[in-house]
This record gives sequence, C-alpha cells and structure tokens, in this order.
Amino acid sequence: MNHIISIHDLNRNQIDRLLTRAGAIMAEYAGREPLKGKILGLLFFEPSTRTRMSFESAMLRLGGSCMNLGGVEVSSMAKGETLADTIRVVSGYADAIVLRHPKVGAARLASEFSDIPILNGGDGAGQHPSQTLIDLYTIRHSMPLDHIDVGLLGDLMYGRTTHSLAYALTHYHACIHTISPKGLGLPDSIRDNLCELGAEVIEHDSVEEIIKDLDVLYVTRLQRERFPDPAKFYDVSSSYRITPSLLADAKDHLAVLHPLPRVDEIDPAVDKLPCARYFQQARNGVPVRMAMLTEVMG
Ligand code: NCD
Repeated sequence: MNHIISIHDLNRNQIDRLLTRAGAIMAEYAGREPLKGKILGLLFFEPSTRTRMSFESAMLRLGGSCMNLGGVEVSSMAKGETLADTIRVVSGYADAIVLRHPKVGAARLASEFSDIPILNGGDGAGQHPSQTLIDLYTIRHSMPLDHIDVGLLGDLMYGRTTHSLAYALTHYHACIHTISPKGLGLPDSIRDNLCELGAEVIEHDSVEEIIKDLDVLYVTRLQRERFPDPAKFYDVSSSYRITPSLLADAKDHLAVLHPLPRVDEIDPAVDKLPCARYFQQARNGVPVRMAMLTEVMG
C-alpha cells in the first residue's frame, strides 16, 4: 500500500485488515518504536484539530517524529510556490505526508509529485478516507458492519466525510438513508456512483421519519466555509438538531456518530446517552491512524 488518497484506494479486505490491526495496535507495539527515525510531514492548509493532532499522536506513539509546515503564511507558498513544488521538496525531508487542502483533488495531484506516501487528510468537499476508517472502526465496536441502516444527516453536498463513508459502506451492503437541508443533498455524481456500486440510497425529508429504523446516525455540521453564497448558510442554519426526545424511539443499539467539530447540530444533553459515540470516535483516531502509518511506512 502506498498513497491513501480516496477510500477507493482500499478494497474491503484492506479496510478490514486495517480495522483489525487498529484494534490490536496498542498491545502489539507496547514498549516498541516501530517508526523510530521516521518523519511524518503534516501539511495542513485548512483548520484541523482531530486529524492533525491524532496523526501526530499516532506517529509519536510509534516512536516517530512529525514536521509541521505551519500553514501557507509561514511557508514559501506565501511567495507563490505551487503545491506541486512544495510536495517535491517536502518529500525529500519526510517519510510520509498528511495533506489537508481546500481543493478537491489536491491530494491526488500531490501524489503525482511525491516520492513518499501521501495520506489525504481531507481535500475540500472531496474525501476524507482516514476519517472513514475511524467511523467504520467505531461502528464495528458496537455491531457487525454488514447490512446495517445508516442515516447520513446534514450537509451531504460539501461534507467530505460523508462521501468517503458512503462509498465504504457499499462494501458492507448498508442501506444508506440521506437527510439534508434543501440544496445540500449528496451530489448527483456520488449518488449515481453509489447506485452503480449496488448501494441502496433512500432520501428522507426529516430524521424523525427514519430514526426508529437506523442502526447508525451519522451527523455532520454545515460546511459553511464551502458555501459559494454565504446568504445560503443563513437560510439553512439551525434546520436540524438531534435532541434526547428525538432519539426516544430509536433502537437500543443505535450509535450516534459525528466526525466533529459540532456546532449546534447535537444537543449537549445527548452526550450522556449510551448512543453518543462521537467522543469515542475522536479518540479512535489514534489507533486507526497508527495502523495506517505502520501500513505505509512500516
Ligand atoms: C471533518 C473534516 O475536516 O472534514 N473533521 C474531521 O476531520 N474530523 C468534519 C468537518 O469539518 O465538519
């Protein structure tokens, strides 16, 4: 395995193997430093807390080191250097790169100019494959992944985590239920691809309508920074919110996930319910990314 740009770069066997390794990785490498002497380059051109820090934590726990670009303003990109040249140069300094970039396709482009593995840490409204592995790992902790009903709620147009998760779920024959504010549904191209892959994708007007049938509810925030027209954000903001009363009719084993950050789409009163898995999901970033790093650099 080399670059991980899209969830399509991993087949079901590779995904299952990574999830299984993630589950055993803390014990497997306890007291050992399998990536000692290796350097991970973190190139983040968009804000990040979980992705950047959990990749860094994963690398440090494996005995490796991290090098941070520190953003456009302090790098030569401020002088007009292209992403391609930056990647060519950094690939001589590090052993793998995690790239987060506002443009769809940036990680793919980077992989064409890199001698070392590129891990896509999110490319605009494109994909976020490492988050998807964390999502699957979190679900698998509560229930078998095959044939589940998953609700994807929120901004499915610009939410990259939902794109890669929906594709990954096709390996497990999930029924995908989409619920989004008007104009923020799954892009037609993704919906078509999912159907070609054999997925059942059902659109709903409200989460109330489907909540009792779901095994997993995956909530996302509005990707305000990607709205071409900021006024549109105010039209749809506060159009959905998960509360304890909305969850009253849910299945006992329902798992509520969110890639975070949340803004106001989940009432904090939900946090103490047994279905709330989003903080555990964030913690799972470390073992899952340890498995990914040892896979590409080990
Ligand atoms: C997500 C992202 O960056 O796409 N965050 C994350 O990596 N956990 C979700 C988001 O920003 O809404």
